[in-house]
Amino acid sequence: MIKADISRARKFLTDQEYIHAHTLATKGLEEVRQKTGPGSEWLGWRDLLAKPNLELITQLSRLGKEIHVSADVFIVCGIGGSYLGAKAVIDALTPAFTAKGPEILFAGHHMSGAYLNDLLAYLKTPKADGSKKSVVLNVISKSGSTLETALSFRVLRKFIHEEFEDASKRIICTTSETGGVLNEVIDQEGYQKFIIPSDVGGRFSVLTPVGLLPIAVAGISIEALFEGAVSSYQALEDDADVIVEYAALRNALHTKGITIDIFASFEPELLSFGGWIQQLLGESEGKDGKGIFPTVAGFSTDLHSLGQFIQDGTRSLLETFLVVDEVDAQLTVPSGLAFGDGLEYLEGDSFHSINSKARMGTIEAHCEGQVPIVTIHLPELSAKSIGALIYFYEILTGVFVYSLGVNPFNQPGVEDYKKAMYRLLGK
Ligand code: PA5
Repeated sequence: MIKADISRARKFLTDQEYIHAHTLATKGLEEVRQKTGPGSEWLGWRDLLAKPNLELITQLSRLGKEIHVSADVFIVCGIGGSYLGAKAVIDALTPAFTAKGPEILFAGHHMSGAYLNDLLAYLKTPKADGSKKSVVLNVISKSGSTLETALSFRVLRKFIHEEFEDASKRIICTTSETGGVLNEVIDQEGYQKFIIPSDVGGRFSVLTPVGLLPIAVAGISIEALFEGAVSSYQALEDDADVIVEYAALRNALHTKGITIDIFASFEPELLSFGGWIQQLLGESEGKDGKGIFPTVAGFSTDLHSLGQFIQDGTRSLLETFLVVDEVDAQLTVPSGLAFGDGLEYLEGDSFHSINSKARMGTIEAHCEGQVPIVTIHLPELSAKSIGALIYFYEILTGVFVYSLGVNPFNQPGVEDYKKAMYRLLGK
């Protein structure tokens, strides 16, 4: 179960400020549960967990395992909610250098021709034994018409069709049941298709085929991930105090002038998870002139770039630490050579304990620098706990954003850049 400690940030609020925000957050929770708030037709991410589709999970798990053993490269082609969740989970749960199974690469998340060119060159480069790389492509787009994804898909689709006789078996599409240009392409080519439920928005879709297929291909148990999310759902249906309190805290700090929330972790595996939270919260709360701008920092790396500002710059920050309580602590500071590096005082200590003390020291210093701090605790880095964390932040987003009086589930502002871009492109 995920734990949240808001006590260090709560001190920045008077009882009156907090109690008022608590009332708003309680109302936000009711709007989520009773489906009475704006955008309530998008609450399907809760139904996924209330009534899990075990048949679909088994099907995705089986296909994921097949691709895991047969492919050399698996490309996830999508943007925003169509790739951030998969990337977050895969980065959190696979080793940095020794992951098994296909290489998981991403495309369709920007429009850089240089990147795509380089990707094509890499895909065409034979393996060490001289044979061709076996490539599988998963294009993911709920609307089926997002330009970044569609352009990259066109390039990669051409590559697959030119390079592989069984091309149509190597392209898997994840999209809405109907509508969108991608569905027309699927009908034309007979590509395999997975459906994104119509009541689940992009940034809430990681526990649908959008995230589950790439995660399964990476060799992660999607059954355990889902189980973690379901347990989190059930626990928070029984008692959602932690969510209401966290949402109330964010709401009251927002009213008090906090404008930036830095999601920080001392575990580099969680950096991409911060990216997923950034989109989930950012696209949900940043509307009508409201919201706390979510951003991500990897510590201690970014203490050497952002640390000065956090400690001493404009006081408009909230800092949220994603903490893993139990980490593989096998590596210790070695002894046995005349190192001469002045690190004798750390000999025999585990890197985990050094990293933990760096975190505690940072929290202490930033508290003294008047930064409100929240710590979110995962018991360990496992598929189950990551599943639990996913639902924790999904419901937090719904409750908090409703407490601001904002619809969490639309993104009207994203259309503005598209309109200007399409005008310049002559669409
Ligand atoms: O959360 C969202 O709805 C967005 O971030 C989308 O996921 C993103 O814009 C990609 O859209 P689509 O899946 O339609 O290509």
